[in-house]
Amino acid sequence: MEKARLIARGAEAHIYLIEDWHGFRAVAKVRVSKPYRVRELDTIIRARRTKLEAYFLYKVKRYGVPTPTVLHVDLHNATIIMEYVEGILLREHLLRTPDEDAVEQLGSLAALLHTHSIVHGDLTTSNAIFSDEQVVLFDFGLAKSAVTVEDFGVDVLLFKRSLLSVHFKYFNELFEAFIRGYQRVAGKNRTNTVLKKVSEIERRGRYVSRELR
Ligand SMILES: Nc1ncnc2c1ncn2[C@@H]1O[C@H](COP(=O)(O)OP(=O)(O)O)[C@@H](O)[C@H]1O
Ligand SMILES: [Mg+2]
Repeated sequence: MEKARLIARGAEAHIYLIEDWHGFRAVAKVRVSKPYRVRELDTIIRARRTKLEAYFLYKVKRYGVPTPTVLHVDLHNATIIMEYVEGILLREHLLRTPDEDAVEQLGSLAALLHTHSIVHGDLTTSNAIFSDEQVVLFDFGLAKSAVTVEDFGVDVLLFKRSLLSVHFKYFNELFEAFIRGYQRVAGKNRTNTVLKKVSEIERRGRYVSRELR
């Protein structure tokens, strides 16, 4: 990968910006090995997550969820080459402006996923880019097909907790906006069922650790 510049280093992947990938401005998401994992297992896990992430990035686009277009997948090197999304991380955007409209959009996108029996798995304001007034969702490495209300509730709870930790000051307005967007797509009944589940999980005090999934 020539002329690739490291732009982000996450817990499991490095993100490189490639200025000219066959004419596209692209990003390479490279899953790196974890020294504490057995090598064979590590290779399998990285390939599996890469494959799943590319699959969901592609699949949910058809449901109307804006995602970076996948340009190339290299399972051997646990790498996805995808469109570089111009814009600002939703997290940063919200820290500047408590933009209810943007969060409402994200709520609708979450509901779109859920009504197609998919959960994102890591729904936070760090996994969305505000681009041209539009919210683009990415980082589907923990996404899965899901059907239970519990799965949907966990997705919403993760988002709620991320709002609480990062955007505490405007939490109420922003979470309400998220629910508004969610309800617009999922309808009142479904939304209430999911919200009830969120409260139930909170009461049980069972928090989902990213590491466990
Ligand atoms: N397609 C993309 N376009 C622009 N920036 C991206 C893109 N994909 C990832 N990034 C940047 O890289 C960071 C980490 O990417 P992400 O997929 O969330 O990796 P991780 O699984 O390590 O969290 C993002 O927060 C974002 O800043
Ligand atoms: Mg991420």
